[in-house]
Amino acid sequence: MITVKSDRELELMKIAGNIVYETHKYLKPYIKPGITTKKLNDMAEDFIISKGATPSCKGYEGFPFAICISVNDEVVHGFPSNYKLKDGDIVTLDICACYKGYHGDSGWTYAVGNIKEEDKYLMNHTEKALYEGIKQAKAGNHVGDISYAVQKYAEDHNLGVVRELCGHGIGTDLHEDPDVPNFGTKGTGPLLKKNMVIAIEPMLTYGDYSVYLDDNDWTVITDDGSNSAHFEHTVLITDDEPIIFTGDDK
Ligand code: MF3
Ligand code: CO
Repeated sequence: MITVKSDRELELMKIAGNIVYETHKYLKPYIKPGITTKKLNDMAEDFIISKGATPSCKGYEGFPFAICISVNDEVVHGFPSNYKLKDGDIVTLDICACYKGYHGDSGWTYAVGNIKEEDKYLMNHTEKALYEGIKQAKAGNHVGDISYAVQKYAEDHNLGVVRELCGHGIGTDLHEDPDVPNFGTKGTGPLLKKNMVIAIEPMLTYGDYSVYLDDNDWTVITDDGSNSAHFEHTVLITDDEPIIFTGDDK
């Protein structure tokens, strides 16, 4: 069931989204060669708690960490670890926070030091694919309009669309209906209505889009070892322009 949120709920979701955005901004200066991904995880957890929220990922279906940190060919749900980021890595921080029962969710891929041109291209166009999807997130459109826009943009730029994971509704649950795939057909899927809130999250690859699940049963990795980028915003559907709850830029 797709829920339409009340004004009170939207106020809380806006705060949750803003906490996620603030967490990204807080961490960004620390995303440098030498820092461990576990350290970033712990800093995120402390920061989210200091804002009166909780890290939604921790314990979600047994996920063991506060945030997901995915490096290079890891697409999503990477485990923070003692791995030290190194110059040339790209790293995705997927941060979710719950404030008074309502969730915000935003993933963002960052460059560590100097990265390859192809990774700049991948990141730049994955972010743009997200905004192409967001443009379609308005009342009267269908979920398929978002999916089509993301896929078209990605494929026009020769990037692979990971099929196994998708965006989602969000509210009192981190993952609610509807699914928001990153590929599909215009005019299909559920109708979007004012005051629905969805997370749109293209996961694109520089190479083939096929993926496998790591032995840890969580982390999704590209089969061919090519790098992947992931950009995600939590977005409110209105009759006009969508409202992004998780900030404009990181
Ligand atoms: N943004 C991620 C997603 O929508 C959040 C995952 S939380 C986790 O899949 F606990 F499942 F990792
Ligand atoms: Co999400």
